[in-house]
Amino acid sequence: REALDPVRYISNHSSGKMGYALARAAQEAGARVTLISGPVTLTTPDRCQRVNVSSALEMLDAALDVVSDCDIFIASAAVADYRPAAVAEQKIKKSGDEIQLTLVKNPDIVATITSHAERPFTVGFAAETTDVAAYAKGKLARKNLDMIVANDVSQPGIGFNSDDNAVTLYWPDGEQAFAAMSKQALARELILAIAQRYSAVLGD
Ligand code: C5P
Repeated sequence: REALDPVRYISNHSSGKMGYALARAAQEAGARVTLISGPVTLTTPDRCQRVNVSSALEMLDAALDVVSDCDIFIASAAVADYRPAAVAEQKIKKSGDEIQLTLVKNPDIVATITSHAERPFTVGFAAETTDVAAYAKGKLARKNLDMIVANDVSQPGIGFNSDDNAVTLYWPDGEQAFAAMSKQALARELILAIAQRYSAVLGD
């Protein structure tokens, strides 16, 4: 959420369900989980430590607070790419027929994490409506990710705000497709695939 004034904000349709499902699956697989979460109406999974944030800048601060302690960083939040240049101190009053809003770029959280000195194994997400594979592979390279989960959000019944998802997981020399299933079942499959790749890269 990016505030415009004390009562309004800019946001998107992401529900947080995929992130919460991943936190739960990772905890059940034996991980110690910190869940950095925007304002959602979901129940915190058992034994996950939840850190509440509102804006992209707050999420970045919370991520930087834990990065040195973290082996695997999974970035599934639909973070705003831009925020209002200024937040009005008082409620913006209705006046003319048009108003202009100036937006400035937010820092890219996951790219900041992958350029950190104590870089964890990092998994990003890509929600796309066209050329899903090409855009996802581009982001994998550009953001220096270890893996990326690509999601075609143009398909009805999966992705944003729904309970089901169908994705393809890419890493620099491989890929794995997952057919449509519940986000919780998919989260378990993704945690397994991420753990396998993490072990392969670290040579355990
Ligand atoms: O470039 P795009 O926003 O589509 O990339 C999506 C990936 O980048 C996701 O993993 C998302 O969590 C992350 N992201 C981020 N910080 C932003 C925007 C996106 O970490 N400001």
